[in-house]
Amino acid sequence: MDMDKEILQFLLHYTTYEYKGPNEILAGGATPWIGHVIFADMLIRAYRPQCLVELGSHTGVSFFAFCEAVKQSCFETSCYAVDTWKGDEQAGFYEEDVYRKFSEHTEKCYSKFATMLRMKFDDAIQCFKDGSIDILHIDGLHTYDAVKHDFYTWLPKVKPGGIILFHDVAEQGNNFGVYRLWHEIAEISQEICVFPHSHGLAVWRKPGGPALDNSLLQNLLSQDKEIAVPIIGIIKLTSEYFVNSHKLKDIESKYDNLNEEYNNISQDNINLKNINIQLKSELESILNSNSWKVTFPLREISRWLRNKLQKNE
Ligand SMILES: C[S@@+](CC[C@H](N)C(=O)[O-])C[C@H]1O[C@@H](n2cnc3c(N)ncnc32)[C@H](O)[C@@H]1O
Repeated sequence: MDMDKEILQFLLHYTTYEYKGPNEILAGGATPWIGHVIFADMLIRAYRPQCLVELGSHTGVSFFAFCEAVKQSCFETSCYAVDTWKGDEQAGFYEEDVYRKFSEHTEKCYSKFATMLRMKFDDAIQCFKDGSIDILHIDGLHTYDAVKHDFYTWLPKVKPGGIILFHDVAEQGNNFGVYRLWHEIAEISQEICVFPHSHGLAVWRKPGGPALDNSLLQNLLSQDKEIAVPIIGIIKLTSEYFVNSHKLKDIESKYDNLNEEYNNISQDNINLKNINIQLKSELESILNSNSWKVTFPLREISRWLRNKLQKNE
């Protein structure tokens, strides 16, 4: 396998990646898109889009991951989130507070470049000129008919050489049909890749346009087993670490709350106090050993990438 220095350095950055977006929407590691947050950052930095559009934003896990990358990179990207903010049959229908929180966070952190379009996808189409979108993320209703409709109606809006992302390509139950559309498209496409984790995210490059000037993206989409497969593997592992570290944070904060409750109950009761001390030490040792396990793959990847880089110098 031959990874050039640019790719190695790009990947190494993600072994120390720190998420600076709104932590509460990551639901302690339990939300479906969380495993792709790292790739969202990678894609923005590698592609440097001028215009990004998301169809289906809900609480904002994916959208704020894109926005955070734009903000931190100081790119002049316009980002659009399209959603009715009412929900659908598969995501579930939800209350107005989802829209309110999304608006507040957008206003507070990304008002310079992010726009919310509260409307149906079909109505938002008229807001964009043909060939004006660099990255389109399709994450609305996931039935075969709905996603096929979204893909073909929005395709002319994406510029030649632009990127389309499809979430939930790995889901086959509950009337999910993105995988069917993806098989049809992938069969006749040159530049594609799939991340199978976190319900599956497929990346498709629209034919035409100049060759990609970023070697990570170029190799990732090349379908060259020797190089694309290990890159996908490294992104998958760093993403799994990201998910697990959020799960662990969630357990830690639940533990802190429990501990506080125990402290209050046991103030006057010596027996309960002793049980509390014992429980506390057991939980602490579980948390410590899990933190060690969770960081293990990341330490290994980091070591491997550093070795490779040294050999390349
Ligand atoms: C799967 S969720 C999006 C998840 C989000 N990308 C994330 O990172 O968590 C799907 C969203 O698409 C919206 N939606 C579905 N069909 C739509 C349509 N035709 N027009 C506008 N919004 C739609 C729903 O309201 C829902 O919030």
